[in-house]
Amino acid sequence: MKIGIIGSGVVAQSLAGGFLKNGHEVTLGTSSPAKLADWQGKNPKARIASSAEAAAFGEVLVLAVKGHAAIAAVKAAGVKNFDGKTVIDTNNPIADKPPVDGVLQFFTSGGDSLLEQLQREFPNAKFVKAFNSVGSAFMVDPKFQNGPPTMFICGNDAAARKTVAGIAESFGWDVADMGTATAARAIEPLCMLWCIPGLARNEWSHAFKLLKPA
Ligand SMILES: NC(=O)c1ccc[n+]([C@@H]2O[C@H](COP(=O)([O-])OP(=O)(O)OC[C@H]3O[C@@H](n4cnc5c(N)ncnc54)[C@H](OP(=O)(O)O)[C@@H]3O)[C@@H](O)[C@H]2O)c1
Repeated sequence: MKIGIIGSGVVAQSLAGGFLKNGHEVTLGTSSPAKLADWQGKNPKARIASSAEAAAFGEVLVLAVKGHAAIAAVKAAGVKNFDGKTVIDTNNPIADKPPVDGVLQFFTSGGDSLLEQLQREFPNAKFVKAFNSVGSAFMVDPKFQNGPPTMFICGNDAAARKTVAGIAESFGWDVADMGTATAARAIEPLCMLWCIPGLARNEWSHAFKLLKPA
């Protein structure tokens, strides 16, 4: 598949590496290509371009930007470039406020989520929440003591969720499909939970697993 990634941070880089490893074509879109010079040296098959070029290139898109910039980033990349496409939404609505007792603060309330905000703003795109509640170091080929961890996903379009489930499985995850975009109200705060051991005790190496009865 042709994958367009909007973003240049650790998540964009990690997921781009996973797509390249699995034989996909990847274009990363950023306003500051110089930031990716080292990464490009190690990943010569990837193309670095503007966010609009990356969004136009991708059959499947990844949005991996600062949460408060997510809507602006789609607009900057050209809303038409998102029409009808599956968009993996890795973003968390982290507020510009310090954590409280190791708990991140969000700019959304419990009755809403960033995924829903994106879906309302850009109804022709098919957003699927994924990869938001694990550190970038574990997004591809996660290795943990008790087997593959669980990637919780949701989004309004069932076919888009299936596409993203296939991608996450190819990256080494078990997938738990939580249904429509409303489920992001529960999935996004998993990022808060994931970060508590890190912010409180500098422990960042863990992932969630949904266990079923024996
Ligand atoms: N870090 C993690 O391990 C992790 C794990 C799970 C989920 N997440 C979530 O995934 C997303 C990406 O995280 P990250 O750590 O890779 O990157 P980040 O440092 O949160 O964000 C960097 C990206 O945001 C873009 N950006 C910042 N302000 C912008 C604006 N006003 N308009 C457009 N784009 C803007 C930058 O664009 P340019 O490239 O143009 O500079 C850059 O690509 C975040 O929402 C984060 O909460 C992070």
